[in-house]
Amino acid sequence: MNGIVECKGLEKFEHRGFKVLYKGSIENKQELRDWLLEEGYTLNGEKDIELVAYIIDYLYNGNLTEATRKAQRKIKGSYGFAITNASKAEVVATSNNHPLVIGLGDKQNFIAFDLSSLLSYTKKCCLINNGEICILTPENIVIVSPTGEVINKEEFQVSWDGTMDKGKFEHFMLKEIYEQPDGFKTNLSGRIKNNKVKIEGLELTLEIVKSWKKIAIVACGTSYHAGLIGKGVFENLLHIPVEVEIASEFSYRAPLVDEETLVIVISQSGETADTLVALREAKKKGASVLAITNTLNSTINREADYGVYIWSGPEIAIASTKAFTMMLLAEYLLGIYLGQIKGSISEEKANMLLENIYKLPETASKILAEATQYQKIAEKYYQKENAFFIGRGFDWPISLEGALKLKETSYIHAEGYAAGEFKHGSLALVTEETLMVALCVQQSTYEKTLANVKECKARGAQILALALEGDKEVAKIADDVIYIPRINNFVAPILTVIPLQLLAYYISKARGCSIDQPRNLVKSIVIE
Ligand code: AGP
Repeated sequence: MNGIVECKGLEKFEHRGFKVLYKGSIENKQELRDWLLEEGYTLNGEKDIELVAYIIDYLYNGNLTEATRKAQRKIKGSYGFAITNASKAEVVATSNNHPLVIGLGDKQNFIAFDLSSLLSYTKKCCLINNGEICILTPENIVIVSPTGEVINKEEFQVSWDGTMDKGKFEHFMLKEIYEQPDGFKTNLSGRIKNNKVKIEGLELTLEIVKSWKKIAIVACGTSYHAGLIGKGVFENLLHIPVEVEIASEFSYRAPLVDEETLVIVISQSGETADTLVALREAKKKGASVLAITNTLNSTINREADYGVYIWSGPEIAIASTKAFTMMLLAEYLLGIYLGQIKGSISEEKANMLLENIYKLPETASKILAEATQYQKIAEKYYQKENAFFIGRGFDWPISLEGALKLKETSYIHAEGYAAGEFKHGSLALVTEETLMVALCVQQSTYEKTLANVKECKARGAQILALALEGDKEVAKIADDVIYIPRINNFVAPILTVIPLQLLAYYISKARGCSIDQPRNLVKSIVIE
């Protein structure tokens, strides 16, 4: 199908001269199946895309746009589809609760179900809203409303500088890990003046900030782990209670959020369906919503009341790395910004934090300069089939993130645990075959974590510890130690994760895995 950008994970289907590209999830599937069966169609599988093709086939009377409009009214759910008919050189596309983006090129036009898929073709784009239909030819684009009026869309130019090639790196994941020092610099530039944090586009008053009696952070996967760090950051800097919840659970338990709550949604893609549903639920309940995202003009960004960009540039590898650390930095800066407005953070403390935050690019570069040690460690442990990551305090969410990185890229079964919780059952799983990755960075809980490590060692586990430079104690217990430069404990999580990203990368490489596109996964999950 000429001119269509095929998103990763996109389904295709052909039927009697119709070609369909589809992404999403249909809610009234059974109803549509019954109807199509009654109309004499034979359904070969369970896939939504097959239903779309047959519905269009049934409704088509020579006008593809009309058939698409009627199909749109019949199909409920969150989806986008693009369709052609062999009789005419045009593509007709529509969406419902699902991103749909048009890319404008030179004598060629593109359509995609997420913005980042377009960027290697064109940076001139326009966004299609729910129920709108676009008709594309190589030379022309017509967009019509659900009722058929032609709409003039505003075009915008995506300003991301990130190139879509791997450069000198073998994989996008490694490239993105190495982009972190520059990412920190980008995020810091222009955001701090005279030790005061300023976030572009965010103009909050004391009255607004004081009206928020509670924060609820909602996100999925890696972004959820960023939220767990955010809890510690905001509670410490704003002195208000912070809850963190997995987005797919949030909307289904009547969450206690109201006009006095700030809901912070975190999403790299800005399109994750679970997070979007949670955002809408929070708004329905009157909460203010602030989105921390990486994707300009994403749905989550457009629907939130306030936005903070993490300026990572496009993240291509499915395993999120640089977006995670930039989310953390965004949370620290946001916490200081709100704390400075509210007066809940002293000048001295803000200065101390900013001083340490300024050290991030340099310290991250130092960690990245030690990459050879990760290759050696990976060679030693890559055949393991089970790994546990443990840590306390801020080391705990980083353990969760380290385990997620390892499991999604290497397919090793890996779990993250609060170190103190591990003995309440999971310790039973430890054998001589187990790899324990012990995060011993946070100093206030250091002795207790070490005691947990010893318990695992006594059961035969191999211990790979992550510790601060100069730590001699941990080397007496661990089989291997990865040292990171000494940095203030409060901002340490932003760096602690980098060795774990490298570990996951090199172990996956040693196992010959499809690092950038692990099996069964897609970059942005737009179904609930
Ligand atoms: C992380 O490596 C994963 N790819 C995944 O957990 C991801 O963070 C999650 O799906 C949320 O995505 P989002 O940040 O785009 O909302």
